[in-house]
Amino acid sequence: KLILIGPPGSGKGTQARLLSKKLKIPHISTGDILREVVKNKTQLGQEAQAYMEKGELVPDNVIIEIIKERVSRPDCEKGYIFDGFPRTLTQAQMLDKIFKEKNKELDLVIQFKISDESLTKRLSGRLICSKCGADYNLYFKPPRVGDICDRCGGKLLPRQDDKKNVVINRLKVFKNQTKPLVNYYQKQAKIKDIDADKKSENLNQELLQLIDAEVNPNGLPEKQSFPAESAEE
Ligand code: AP5
Repeated sequence: KLILIGPPGSGKGTQARLLSKKLKIPHISTGDILREVVKNKTQLGQEAQAYMEKGELVPDNVIIEIIKERVSRPDCEKGYIFDGFPRTLTQAQMLDKIFKEKNKELDLVIQFKISDESLTKRLSGRLICSKCGADYNLYFKPPRVGDICDRCGGKLLPRQDDKKNVVINRLKVFKNQTKPLVNYYQKQAKIKDIDADKKSENLNQELLQLIDAEVNPNGLPEKQSFPAESAEE
């Protein structure tokens, strides 16, 4: 049971997807779940959208219900990777309660540390395929042709909340509401830092080594079974 914590654009989603494939445990992104409900235009989606387009956090009670439902599914039996959750002290406390009720324990929190310069490039350069959701970046992972997805030919668009003024607010919200969780997990001696300011494949190898060193190996696949493939999806 892993938590990836870090500012918007630090690479949590990219790394969680790669780790999920290699460790064979689900990647749980509250951001992805919320974007899906927004797309489906449910009532919850409309409520969430109002917060997300301003870069504010969706209320804790909504997030906690989403998480409770998600971790109760059978694919979570062997563990999972949280990306973008918890984001407030209340969410972290609720998660501790869920673990206690299920007689489980958090294994590790990994804090992604990154320079402001890289964050700006990663967020301002991000493009998402409107059809298949594939992720591109104008600076680091450009599409082969213009704004067309290499995989499915769909149109590539910036994420709604990557607009400059919204990013400024997301960073502020991270500093004020999420950063204090570092202290919370330091007190539990559960948190390790990683330098996220490097190429995706190198970062992924370091993460695997860190997890291998810190987490009870009985809970994870054998070290030798990590495929030696490229970190690109
Ligand atoms: P969420 O979707 O969680 O957004 P975020 O935390 O702001 O994170 P991002 O997805 O922007 O960045 P990331 O760190 O995952 O980086 P990524 O890998 O994508 O949340 C969105 C909103 O939903 C929130 O603002 C809030 O409103 C709501 N919400 C979500 N969870 C909530 C919660 N728990 N409570 C309340 N509200 C919640 O990479 C970014 C870019 O960089 C990509 O283009 C990628 O290709 C590129 N890149 C990644 N790694 C590298 C690398 N190593 N080198 C070069 N480029 C890289």
